[in-house]
Amino acid sequence: MAEFKVTPWDVEGLVDYDKLIEQFGTSPLTEELLKRTAELTGGELPIYFRRRFFFSHRDYDKVLNDYESGRGFFLYTGRGPSGPMHIGHIIPFFATKWLQKKFGVNLYIQITDDEKFLFKDKLTFEDTKRWAYQNILDIIAVGFDPDKTFIFQNSEFTKIYEMAIPIAKKINFSMAKAVFGFTEQSKIGMIFYPAIQAAPTFFEKRRCLIPAAIDQDPYWRLQRDFAESLGYYKTAALHSKFVPPLTGLEGKMSASKPETAIYLTDDPEDAGRKIWRFALTGGQPTLKEQREKGGNPEKCVVFKWLEIFFEEDDKKLMERYHACKAGALMCGECKRYLIQRVQEFLKEHQRRREKAEKLVEKFKYTGKLAQEKWNEAIPEPLRR
Ligand code: TRP
Repeated sequence: MAEFKVTPWDVEGLVDYDKLIEQFGTSPLTEELLKRTAELTGGELPIYFRRRFFFSHRDYDKVLNDYESGRGFFLYTGRGPSGPMHIGHIIPFFATKWLQKKFGVNLYIQITDDEKFLFKDKLTFEDTKRWAYQNILDIIAVGFDPDKTFIFQNSEFTKIYEMAIPIAKKINFSMAKAVFGFTEQSKIGMIFYPAIQAAPTFFEKRRCLIPAAIDQDPYWRLQRDFAESLGYYKTAALHSKFVPPLTGLEGKMSASKPETAIYLTDDPEDAGRKIWRFALTGGQPTLKEQREKGGNPEKCVVFKWLEIFFEEDDKKLMERYHACKAGALMCGECKRYLIQRVQEFLKEHQRRREKAEKLVEKFKYTGKLAQEKWNEAIPEPLRR
């Protein structure tokens, strides 16, 4: 039996997502929920939902009920600034943008320069602050609504600490240890940190919906243990899969192995060369065998990347699948197609990223939602 492991710090092996739903005790994102989402948003679902990149949830049904009844909800997601962002990091942000736009809701984005300093031996606090700025540019480039989005960096928005205090009083070491596997050697900053990541789920007195990769779920599981005792909702979540590294279907793209990832700041030409050289395909060893036996799209990273993000057209994707299986499509052709799509994406992203510099102030400090949050008192239930 294949072994795999998913924690907030580590993803290893070929992840069995159905098993993960069982292990984590989450619920599958059903056809029915997707249909409801399409109906409520007036049309077709975007690629991330159609292709089941988001595959699991907690209380998403209740979020939709809240929306329908007019109670509303809000969105929260985040980024740990430990290095440059790659394709795998940004896809959940695109999904989040779609949700914000369709439901017209507020969005909070937590940049955890504190977390990455505490958890990564090699990074200085200076480093994580520097990466925070770089990552914020990539996030702004996605195109969120500047008046409905607040991007905050934990080391600056220190009100987060005040909110974390009553939360920290609800979590004892044995709970945190059970969820995160802390040991005697864990730094005490690490042990406190889950309270900081839970705090934004209490930014509004409505249900919070967190679109994020499933490795973050342990934090939400913990939040759901005590949220109601503080007079808040248990947070809801939409869980995404991981984008496989270029070099194989196991694990996730890793910042420490540059050949496995395409960074958002990669020169498009270099990105093309990386894909050409390192992308694993499901092809046969020779062209002759490929024509006779056909390829194996299930074992192909190039196909996966097209499926997850780079081929929006369902019909074209199916045609590619069948042509590959039938031996009518060679791996080189597919790679060239993916390269072209990735390069188009990078050029567009980088163009938007340049413009993002001028928007940082607005998202962090001066936009409507940012102003509201900087000026607001600590919510009453958290002051008692
Ligand atoms: N812990 C996350 C990381 O390492 C950062 C983060 C903070 C986050 N809050 C979040 C991610 C909410 C998703 C949703 O990247």
